[in-house]
Amino acid sequence: MSAPSHHTVPATAPAADAAPEPVLALRGVHLTDRGTGREIVRGVGFALRPGRAVGIVGESGSGKTLTCRAALGILPPGIEVSAGSVTLAGTDIATLTARQWTALRGATISAVFQDPASYLNPALRVGTQIAEVVRVKQGLGRRAARRRAVELLDSVRLADPELVYGQYPFELSGGMLQRVLIAAAISAEPRVVIADEATTALDVTVQAEILDLLTELRERTGLALVVVSHDLAVVAQLCDEVVVLRHGEVVEQGPTRTVLRHPRHAYTRLLIAEHERYGLERFRTAEETP
Ligand SMILES: Nc1ncnc2c1ncn2[C@@H]1O[C@H](COP(=O)(O)OP(=O)(O)O)[C@@H](O)[C@H]1O
Ligand SMILES: [Mg+2]
Repeated sequence: MSAPSHHTVPATAPAADAAPEPVLALRGVHLTDRGTGREIVRGVGFALRPGRAVGIVGESGSGKTLTCRAALGILPPGIEVSAGSVTLAGTDIATLTARQWTALRGATISAVFQDPASYLNPALRVGTQIAEVVRVKQGLGRRAARRRAVELLDSVRLADPELVYGQYPFELSGGMLQRVLIAAAISAEPRVVIADEATTALDVTVQAEILDLLTELRERTGLALVVVSHDLAVVAQLCDEVVVLRHGEVVEQGPTRTVLRHPRHAYTRLLIAEHERYGLERFRTAEETP
């Protein structure tokens, strides 16, 4: 695999100790339903640097998915960014034409959602579907695309990628399907992957395996992650920073460890209390344990 151009050091490289530019930045984003005039999201912001992970946590309906869709430039019809900005790889996406946006997005950001089965065609072998994504996004020929698809299935730790290549979605477990979707999401070597409740439908053991995989991709490739979950434990495992959303408003935000240890808002304390029984404690105290 050749190094993508964004890994090359620009001529005017910043000082080695300077933090790299955020690859994705939301600044004071407000989202409004044009039909009703309702402001659904009011002032979400974060800056995500390469190799880092930010978590968005909050109960169902708090605006997590719409925030992600704003970052992906795929808001549903009628929902608009009414204030603030989304900057991807240094470019304010509002300044781009549809065509420029599609090109930038394809090379920069992709997403994995809950319910992987619904993103695959049940009548086609999964390998063929990945190869097609690779063919279109990377302009590879059929044979090269097939080889690349098998490599991708291997890179998401599917035990027998050649076998999986030839299987149909119904032959795979939920965890395997989510790995296939992650393979598709990283096929164009994006700099950011958004995982929106990506492990919610999976049982606890499989969920842990998928979270480990995302961590590994992050460490190995410098991928930046936006991890969305109603489950604070998921975010605690993966993220450097956490944004706590409630009814479309950020009630608390900061380094994950700080927020978990010293939650300042009653709502955050409630989320922590709810999840204590699922083992969140081990993330809150991990640093003290030798
Ligand atoms: N297409 C849409 N049109 C109008 N309202 C929507 C649409 N999608 C979501 N909403 C509303 O926006 C709010 C936030 O939704 P969402 O971002 O999906 O929440 P979450 O992902 O945190 O569960 C909810 O009140 C939801 O009803
Ligand atoms: Mg959602």
